[in-house]
Amino acid sequence: MDITGNTVFIPGATSGIGLALALALNERGNKVIIGGRRVALLEQLAVEHPEISTVQIDTADAASIEAAAKEVLAAHPSLNVLIAMAGIMQVEDWHKPEGFLASAERVVTTNVLGPIRLVAAFVEHLQTRPDATIVTVSSGLAFTPLKVTPSYNASKAAIHMLSESLRMQLSDTTVKVLELEPPSVRTALMPGQEDNEHAMPLDEFIAEVMTLVETQPDAREIQVERVKFLRYGEARGDYDQVVAAVNGTDPHGK
Ligand SMILES: NC(=O)c1ccc[n+]([C@@H]2O[C@H](COP(=O)([O-])OP(=O)(O)OC[C@H]3O[C@@H](n4cnc5c(N)ncnc54)[C@H](OP(=O)(O)O)[C@@H]3O)[C@@H](O)[C@H]2O)c1
Repeated sequence: MDITGNTVFIPGATSGIGLALALALNERGNKVIIGGRRVALLEQLAVEHPEISTVQIDTADAASIEAAAKEVLAAHPSLNVLIAMAGIMQVEDWHKPEGFLASAERVVTTNVLGPIRLVAAFVEHLQTRPDATIVTVSSGLAFTPLKVTPSYNASKAAIHMLSESLRMQLSDTTVKVLELEPPSVRTALMPGQEDNEHAMPLDEFIAEVMTLVETQPDAREIQVERVKFLRYGEARGDYDQVVAAVNGTDPHGK
């Protein structure tokens, strides 16, 4: 993907990684459209950054995705990049259904069905553009599980495999599939995460991502250095140690 000259829609950019990426892409000469549910934030961002467009969208709702896609494509027919950023992460206890079922349904609807429906809404348009990209957002936790967030880990593993499969199917089109794999980054994704000193500072993460996009325009995955510990445990042969380190447990599962 080129670093400049694109028209980029980022559903899930009212805060965190999506917003920081939107601002960085805007600075690099891309037309950016921010999406999210929080109308007050969208209005505030429109005032603070008049060159950025905003659209209200709930990616857990099929009708909302359809309506937002129509609005975005009507206003921005040059759209050539979709970044399916919206996601939620929740702690669950799978010993009893009341500890996880409602949460798991929410997580799968937002993190898996949301990107699937977004691709459905944009894939035909993207194929009409000479150079287009679908950016999916998985996680280091797609490759190493965090014990307390089973649905989240599973949803991101699904996004990884979806990205691998889509890339092959769309290889006969102008559409590339690029998977962003963040490590733990300081955002409001989980309570306390913004102040977690073990998580990567957001500005450092975005700076490294922008450098990778610029220097590796044909990469299939965007991997900052910090995610490789989680991403390649199995390939390196130290998967049990990585799982133990992430979960603070004994490497033999005790
Ligand atoms: N931070 C990390 O450590 C980390 C690590 C790996 C992967 N990720 C992934 O990065 C992505 C961004 O997360 P973040 O860390 O930046 O957290 P964040 O600050 O909580 O941002 C989440 C964004 O998603 C939007 N969103 C959530 N549910 C939505 C829905 N139903 N419809 C539309 N927008 C929705 C939120 O906007 P509204 O609330 O306004 O709708 C917000 O803009 C997520 O997919 C997350 O899984 C994050």
